[in-house]
Amino acid sequence: MQQMTIATQPIEGQKPGTSGLRKKTKVFMGPHFLENYVQAIFDGIGGIDGATLVVGGDGRYFNDRAIQVILRMAAANGAAKVIVGKDGILSTPAASHLIRKNKTDGGLILSASHNPGGIDEDFGLKYNGPNGGPAPESVTDKIFARTQTIREYRIMETTDINIGDVGSLSLGGMSIEVVDPVTEYAALMEELFDFGAIRALFAEGFTLRFDAMHAVTGPYATEILENRLGAAKGSVVNATPLPDFGGGHPDPNPIWAHELMTLMMGSDAPDFGAASDGDGDRNMIVGRAAYVTPSDSLAVLTANAHLAPAYRRGLAGVARSMPTSAAADRVADALGIEHFETPTGWKFFGNLLDAGRATLCGEESAGTGSDHVREKDGLWAVLLWLNILAERRLSVAEILAEHWATYGRNYYSRHDYEGVDTDAANGLMDALRAALPDLAGTLVGDLTVDMADEFEYLDPVDGSTSSAQGIRVGFTNGARVVFRLSGTGTEGATLRVYLEHLELDPTQMQRDPQDALSKVIATAEALAGIKARTGRAAPDVIT
Ligand code: G1P
Ligand code: ZN
Repeated sequence: MQQMTIATQPIEGQKPGTSGLRKKTKVFMGPHFLENYVQAIFDGIGGIDGATLVVGGDGRYFNDRAIQVILRMAAANGAAKVIVGKDGILSTPAASHLIRKNKTDGGLILSASHNPGGIDEDFGLKYNGPNGGPAPESVTDKIFARTQTIREYRIMETTDINIGDVGSLSLGGMSIEVVDPVTEYAALMEELFDFGAIRALFAEGFTLRFDAMHAVTGPYATEILENRLGAAKGSVVNATPLPDFGGGHPDPNPIWAHELMTLMMGSDAPDFGAASDGDGDRNMIVGRAAYVTPSDSLAVLTANAHLAPAYRRGLAGVARSMPTSAAADRVADALGIEHFETPTGWKFFGNLLDAGRATLCGEESAGTGSDHVREKDGLWAVLLWLNILAERRLSVAEILAEHWATYGRNYYSRHDYEGVDTDAANGLMDALRAALPDLAGTLVGDLTVDMADEFEYLDPVDGSTSSAQGIRVGFTNGARVVFRLSGTGTEGATLRVYLEHLELDPTQMQRDPQDALSKVIATAEALAGIKARTGRAAPDVIT
């Protein structure tokens, strides 16, 4: 075994985004690319001499090779200890929990989330800090700056390290603790939820289908839902994580989880359906013939969380990303708790969670979570739903109907235009920006504009501001449209148009969402000229 310092050159384009650095797998596999980026992380966070880190990933293609490189580089950079999931596997929320529970100096998570995996697909790497959450911009800026100046990296030369068995190893002066990926996470879930009540629900014949989408949550869901809670064997499907996720998009929404959707809308539907994404932080919730939008899910969980042991004393507050519907705000107002509107991206919830201002958080993109970790958590959302159903003994459809009758219904949809010409997308946003000052009070289509701005977030905890976070236009009837360019796409630009209509009339609660939103959709087109500017007749993806 030998410690080496290898000369290298800065590589362009290693700027981490909201979810770390995501690139085509082959880019990460290129000469020195991964090594440069790992060294830039270590340098960017001030060195890792004597540090303890957590390392694990979602098992996608190259996960196994990348973990070997990271372990050897951590040892060469003087780390005291690395806690690594067996076979290099950790779901993102499980990694966040291990970082926190072991009071480590942070961790490296290998994932491109819900993006497809494989040699021709996507790979990703991100650094999470000691609070278990994605690094704030101040840290990712330092990592990026380091990528621009890096001249060398340090690595141990060794044969492969066997991380296929739970136990302790050493590498140079560094110890490696190989942990079962599920154990600690499952123990945390048992603390948060009433497993006895959920077990009783299953014992009475409640049926479930959980689609792990060939991704990381398979082992977690099988252990927790089938082994510990007594869901029938085979309730968890696509439960073996595969390096290419079986060739699919491991993204839990009605488009990519269409098999589950078809089942849930059909005559053989179980009582409850759920899915999770590549790295286990996103979730989809669907009842028998009742799809729950992520925005509604956050609102329902906010209204009912006190039924689960961890939240029995009530919530400090609830936070949602700006494009997420205002359904949760309405519940928060009724409960008399604070609610927050943050920019898109989980990292913006970190300060609110750390400061005890928010207990639950959610994003319209199928992310829901709480202060138990500092990532969104797919299986956690499923278990909170199950705990609520075990207490309420209502169907998902009944819970939704009751919720809308109480708080009103925020009809909601997101229209995505993918791979749009970057100049066209920027032109559309610039034109909207220019029109903003004069919009308030005007009639667009059938709707009167109440407010229009480009969202700027003032973090109530640390006072930092984040500007240009999307254009929002609110209407006097409570409807809203938001225009935003995706920060996670890998080709061209993705325009996201978020549409919302507030319905308070109890006779209008069961409409088709696209129909209920038709005026808002027409108004969005009138405001932005989407068709003309993008050359697209219709959105590529409607969720
Ligand atoms: C998308 C989602 C956003 C989420 C992010 C990372 O980002 O919209 O809510 O936090 O993925 O999972 P976007 O592509 O919109 O920038
Ligand atoms: Zn994810």
